[in-house]
Amino acid sequence: MSLKTRLALTLAIAFITIVLIGGVLTFYQARENIRTELQAARSVATNRVAQLVAELPATRDVSGKLAGFVRTFNGDRHVRVVLIDTLGVIRDESILAEDYNSLPEWFVTLLGSEPDTAIMPLTAAAAPITSVGIIIDPRNELTDAWVDLLRVFGLLVLFLSIAFSAIWIVADRALRPLGAIHEAFARIGTGDYDAKAEPHGPPEMRNLAAGLNLMTERLKAISTRNQRLSDRLLHLQDEERTQLARDLHDDVGPLLFAIDVDASGIKRLARDPSKDPETIVERAGAITSAAHEARKELRRILTNLRPGTMPGLGLKAAVEEMIADLQGRHPDVAFEMDIPDGDFGATIETLVHRAVREAVTNALRHGKPRRIAIDVALAPGRLDFSIVDDGGGFSGNAPSGGFGLVGMAERIEAAGGELSVETVERPRGVRIAGWIPLASTHSTADRHDSNGDERSAVTASFEDAS
Ligand SMILES: Nc1ncnc2c1ncn2[C@@H]1O[C@H](COP(=O)(O)OP(=O)(O)OP(=O)(O)O)[C@@H](O)[C@H]1O
Ligand SMILES: [Mg+2]
Repeated sequence: MSLKTRLALTLAIAFITIVLIGGVLTFYQARENIRTELQAARSVATNRVAQLVAELPATRDVSGKLAGFVRTFNGDRHVRVVLIDTLGVIRDESILAEDYNSLPEWFVTLLGSEPDTAIMPLTAAAAPITSVGIIIDPRNELTDAWVDLLRVFGLLVLFLSIAFSAIWIVADRALRPLGAIHEAFARIGTGDYDAKAEPHGPPEMRNLAAGLNLMTERLKAISTRNQRLSDRLLHLQDEERTQLARDLHDDVGPLLFAIDVDASGIKRLARDPSKDPETIVERAGAITSAAHEARKELRRILTNLRPGTMPGLGLKAAVEEMIADLQGRHPDVAFEMDIPDGDFGATIETLVHRAVREAVTNALRHGKPRRIAIDVALAPGRLDFSIVDDGGGFSGNAPSGGFGLVGMAERIEAAGGELSVETVERPRGVRIAGWIPLASTHSTADRHDSNGDERSAVTASFEDAS
């Protein structure tokens, strides 16, 4: 059952209850009024007959007096008087006002009022009339009550109809935006994040629609980013393979070729006794250095392929190794490092290593840095890091387009840390800074550190170990 139908039913029940209570109260009030009114009429009529009886002995024209008496009751709304003779025949009677034509029978039955007759005897002076009958007829009074009742009910129904219509119109208008909101939710449910609900109606509905629109915008942004990330993921493997093939081809291939050439040369020289053995030693030396180069290249390629740091190598050594490799290719850039020794756990080390690699690669790729400073510092319960370059900063106001920074931020936030990316001035460049919480077991130890020292237990143990 819809909300509007429920509202209508509740209002209808409330209105019917009010009408019923109103009806019962009006009924009792009317019965009381009729009783009082008829009582008064009876008492007036009885008094007048008594007065007539008292005046009759002194009256000369008795029949005229009687006829006049009856006439005075003509048009009375409650009382009808009749003159009764010795035989019990009605000789004269007054005419009751008849306003009760529209009175429904059930109403008369409901109020249970029947005409009430009282016979009052006359003196012998009135012969042949012996008595006066007073008939109290409640129908005119009932008619008054009926008309009052109709009026009260009419007003009540009019008032309730107006109230009902007003409530209905207000509720209808207030609830109308719910349709659009429901429709928007249904569209969101099917993955259509362009669904919007126009904010209108009362403030509550406008707030609801505005909240919904905010939510869809956010969902749309998340969905777009997810889509881009998954597209990127699809291409990443191919890119990595291509890069690997290129590295092996360009860096390792020529060295293997050189080894091949030198080994063949040694073979030839060894068969020719006229050749100086020193030449063979020279060629063998060339093979050794080519093999050494090849191992270095392989190590570089493997370092790039590996997702994190070398197990057991430690963050400092891993970053140093990465920087040494980059320094070879970027001899003009001054790399500065301040990284504490120690083991921070594989997860944290991998995260920081990746962040440093992405930040340094970005600086070299997108800027023209002369100096890149990498700082890692242990703080209570967390590991802070920053990478600052002076390569000229972002071309726009903020980074855009790639996935490196977004992915880095997401990974660090997932580990409970934070990452900030900002432009620095003088010299202009980019500063990437963040922190990652140390493992929770360490944090617990930190909390129980009884000497109140700011340094965490893990910090202390880490420093001791180093
Ligand atoms: N150190 C920097 N100096 C200048 N511009 C930078 C720097 N770091 C990032 N940017 C800008 O921010 C953008 C986003 O960087 P991000 O690392 O997210 O993506 P990317 O490097 O372009 O691509 P990838 O997804 O391969 O990392 C870059 O395209 C670049 O324009
Ligand atoms: Mg990048």
